[in-house]
Amino acid sequence: MTAILSVQNLTKRFGGLAAVDNISVDFPKDVLNSVIGPNGAGKTTLFNLITGMIPATSGRVLFDGTDLVGKSPHAIVSRGLSRTLQIKSVFGGMSVMDNIRIAVFAHQGISNPLRSIHGYPAVARRVDEILEDTGLHRLARANAGSLSYGDVALLEIALALANKPRLLLLDEPICGMSPSETERTVGHIVRLAKTTNVILIEHDMEVVFAISDLITVMAQGQILMQGAPDAVSKDNRVQDVYLGVPEDME
Ligand SMILES: Nc1ncnc2c1ncn2[C@@H]1O[C@H](COP(=O)(O)OP(=O)(O)OP(=O)(O)O)[C@@H](O)[C@H]1O
Ligand SMILES: [Mg+2]
Repeated sequence: MTAILSVQNLTKRFGGLAAVDNISVDFPKDVLNSVIGPNGAGKTTLFNLITGMIPATSGRVLFDGTDLVGKSPHAIVSRGLSRTLQIKSVFGGMSVMDNIRIAVFAHQGISNPLRSIHGYPAVARRVDEILEDTGLHRLARANAGSLSYGDVALLEIALALANKPRLLLLDEPICGMSPSETERTVGHIVRLAKTTNVILIEHDMEVVFAISDLITVMAQGQILMQGAPDAVSKDNRVQDVYLGVPEDME
């Protein structure tokens, strides 16, 4: 098992609270990884540390062998690690396609400034691929400001794909979606995960257990266990941390 991401003794303290408490965990390549755990377990904080959005108190995060701790979010994205944010950040006055085009253009400019003069066909090709991969072709010319909640979330994923990431972190991507939007988005996530490494934080247990190859369970800043859906659903410790919200663990 080769890890796409190896977290080693990672800690984040907020004052007296260890939101991420000396955790060590590997996320293997080429599988759909999910991270679950009750509210406040430290899942989003873990993503914030991995992507350099907040500084770690201590520890290492190896991405393809390079330590990301101490690097800027920008440097981390340009290494091929992207995420979606829970706060939606699309440009409402522009079409879906133009939103994606700007994101792709920005990334190509970053990785090679000369491409900004000669790179238009490459940008157009990448925009098409992303529209295809996210199913946003049907809305390419729609104003991003007029999209349904579910389609905005898909556009967020599309923007995170602009740099052709080798690892994509999704934090509750289907939160707030209708059942049909959920089904559609989950379908795209599963398809994406065949070509891009994905780590998914999700509270919808039905979805998590249906689509994940490997589940990492966090509680109180620590890793409770990691295993296949079968093993996780049978684990007494996992059932214990979810006591009080049994409807999530059916
Ligand atoms: N910037 C911050 N300052 C202080 N405390 C924080 C900060 N960010 C997170 N925390 C605390 O760290 C703990 C972990 O929070 P985090 O957001 O990582 O949990 P989570 O597992 O993502 O929860 P949820 O499922 O509700 O999204 C919580 O107790 C939270 O209040
Ligand atoms: Mg969270």
